[in-house]
Amino acid sequence: MEKKQVTDYIAGNKDRFLNELLELLRIPSISADSKHKEDVLKTAEAVKQRLVEAGADKVEVCPTKGFPVVYGEKIIDPKLPTVVVYGHYDVQPADPLNLWNSPPFEPVIKKTDIHPDGAIFARGSCDDKGQMYMHVKAFEFMVKTNTLPCNVKFMIEGEEEVGSPSLGPWIVENKERLKGDVILISDTSIIANDTPSIDTGLRGLAYMEVEITGPNRDLHSGVYGGAVANPINVLCKMIASCHDENNHITIPAFYDKVVELSADEREEMAKAPFNLDEYKKDLAIDDVRGEKGYSTIERTGIRPTLDVNGIWGGYTGEGAKTVLPGKAFAKISMRLVPNQDSHEISEIFKKHFESIAPASVKVKVTAHHGGEPVVVSIESEGYKAAASAMEETYGKKPVPTRGGGSIPIVALFKKELGLDSILFGFGLDSDALHSPNEHYGLFNYYKGIETIPLFYRNYTNMKK
Ligand code: BES
Ligand code: MN
Ligand code: MN
Repeated sequence: MEKKQVTDYIAGNKDRFLNELLELLRIPSISADSKHKEDVLKTAEAVKQRLVEAGADKVEVCPTKGFPVVYGEKIIDPKLPTVVVYGHYDVQPADPLNLWNSPPFEPVIKKTDIHPDGAIFARGSCDDKGQMYMHVKAFEFMVKTNTLPCNVKFMIEGEEEVGSPSLGPWIVENKERLKGDVILISDTSIIANDTPSIDTGLRGLAYMEVEITGPNRDLHSGVYGGAVANPINVLCKMIASCHDENNHITIPAFYDKVVELSADEREEMAKAPFNLDEYKKDLAIDDVRGEKGYSTIERTGIRPTLDVNGIWGGYTGEGAKTVLPGKAFAKISMRLVPNQDSHEISEIFKKHFESIAPASVKVKVTAHHGGEPVVVSIESEGYKAAASAMEETYGKKPVPTRGGGSIPIVALFKKELGLDSILFGFGLDSDALHSPNEHYGLFNYYKGIETIPLFYRNYTNMKK
């Protein structure tokens, strides 16, 4: 297989490749929102249809307790290696809707400074429908031109954005069907369109919810204020106490298992191009903030964090209401790094929060979904095959990077299937994933379709 065969095929099918993706993006497959259940199911059927059309066999919408997993395969010779492709067809909720410049499920193409060739603006365009669909089109190319060098299995889920609760059990039940050599995933980012990179790690996650209860009812803040604990005041103080003046997390034993990188490893990481001024400009902030002693890249790549995702309680309606609320709530997440364990950290957090609460309130801590951190070896065949594929299509060696986000199922692929994952992402962090005006560059979409078949070729050759 030559690169030119791929670029010729893309050139001949450019508009269709784009239009097919736009059609998928029009279905609001929001897994977190039960109002969109039918849309999520409809998207699974659409993905199934597309896999069939691309040439996959045994394509099936596999039921789970939650949303289905779409499976399909092409086995050309059992003796050849098997690449297992993972992606997700569900998307994040689109709100706040008023901050979108165009409706989130009516994709439009617009040029931006970073994407002068245009980008598709729609929820899920980058995360992950656009990136997942590159694999379907790369596969189509290989099937239709008779260049598929090895076996392929697709596993596209519909619950990634809600923590993949059903995929874990599903892979355990389908170990036989999922036998393969490597997992290939495009659901991460590259540094920039002229600076390819490959994530060699993902952070884990522990997601908690806290409920603070004060008096048995909302009170008149004049009659009782000053004498009875205000749960919101208390909660804010408890949250604030979780970081010290160096933005180091104060929860006892929190850092006990954190793997510290050697000076050499940190030096290597610091070679990745990063422009702090552009970073600040993109976010319209005057300064960054984080753990003392670590760079911005380190703070998101190799250090654990604790962040409040939402906080509520009391009166938030129009005008003013003098009230001392009976309850306060917060959702708090911690990003984890090797070798932290999400269950252990959830337990440590719970104990700590219970211990720091004053006697004037009651505290209830519950854990939501979590996931474990992962690292990918740059010495693995999969990484090398991916790196040389990118080098060929970008004309530059990709930089190994640590991704700050989480894909909880990746650790389970290793644990349950014994398979390493290659994080072959093509998006940009600035593509506004999970934010209003999410977009995906046309350059990135087509570049992904061009690069993926070369991975298959390289990987198969290395395994020979
Ligand atoms: N695709 C992202 C994860 C990601 C994005 C990794 C960019 C690296 C770079 C994924 O869809 C995601 O959003 N994951 C969630 C996990 C959660 C819902 C369990 C996350 O990271 O918050
Ligand atoms: Mn994703
Ligand atoms: Mn996501």
